[in-house]
Amino acid sequence: MSTIKEDKIRTHYDSVAGTYDHHYDHPRGRNYHTHISNYLIKALPEKGDLLDIGCGTGLFVEKYIRHGGTAVGIDISRKMVERARCRCAMCNFAEGNGDALPFRDNSFDAVSSLLVFSYVKEPDAMLSEAYRVLKPGGSIALLTLGKKLLTKGIPLLYQISEKMQVKHVVMKDFGEHYYDEEEMTRLFSDAGFTRVNTRWCSFAHIDMIDPLFNIATKIEPFVEKRVPQLAYNIFVSAKKPED
Ligand SMILES: C[S@@+](CC[C@H](N)C(=O)[O-])C[C@H]1O[C@@H](n2cnc3c(N)ncnc32)[C@H](O)[C@@H]1O
Repeated sequence: MSTIKEDKIRTHYDSVAGTYDHHYDHPRGRNYHTHISNYLIKALPEKGDLLDIGCGTGLFVEKYIRHGGTAVGIDISRKMVERARCRCAMCNFAEGNGDALPFRDNSFDAVSSLLVFSYVKEPDAMLSEAYRVLKPGGSIALLTLGKKLLTKGIPLLYQISEKMQVKHVVMKDFGEHYYDEEEMTRLFSDAGFTRVNTRWCSFAHIDMIDPLFNIATKIEPFVEKRVPQLAYNIFVSAKKPED
């Protein structure tokens, strides 16, 4: 049974909406977010109509539309949505859950979701909904913290940091769930997607101190390619088949 605490996630993101962007507003943060965003951008059509699930303050939407596309974002946190509206006034944002999308069938060329999937209580429902709203031939790209030896201790770390009242945008006990490649492939295939590709990425972490982060950034391409066991995010891309 899922232990994901959805109300707590919503309340938390409402409370950090005003400071969330500071987390990514320094060289390490910008570097990290750009690095992971690029995985999604490369897998999605350049000038399509995008739906970003768990859009937060609109950081990914802002990057996507620079390439000429249009975008809509949805997030369970009303305050995060308000921030996104300020960031990208030309885009539409809605408050809502990724597992029940308030959009018509076959309405988007692309669906993205960045750093959200581990929070989703009904992952199969979210992927079925993403499939439903995508046009035939549309693309989905998703990146989230993955399940492996390296990330096994994270739930405990988050529980401890919550007890110690560490002020951090993600370090809280939300009952998050992590997936490995096999589970991701099965979830996407069961939802109807084809051409499902998974890969491990990210070695440099935003919470590292600068000198370590700089070294980790330099060797990141090598790690991602040759030693993926040391990468901690999992990236998935897939397609909705043509009619
Ligand atoms: C770590 S933030 C990532 C935000 C954004 N994607 C980014 O790259 O900055 C996670 C976001 O997911 C949202 N979220 C969590 N569970 C969700 C769900 N079931 N449906 C929609 N949004 C959700 C949270 O409110 C939060 O804004």
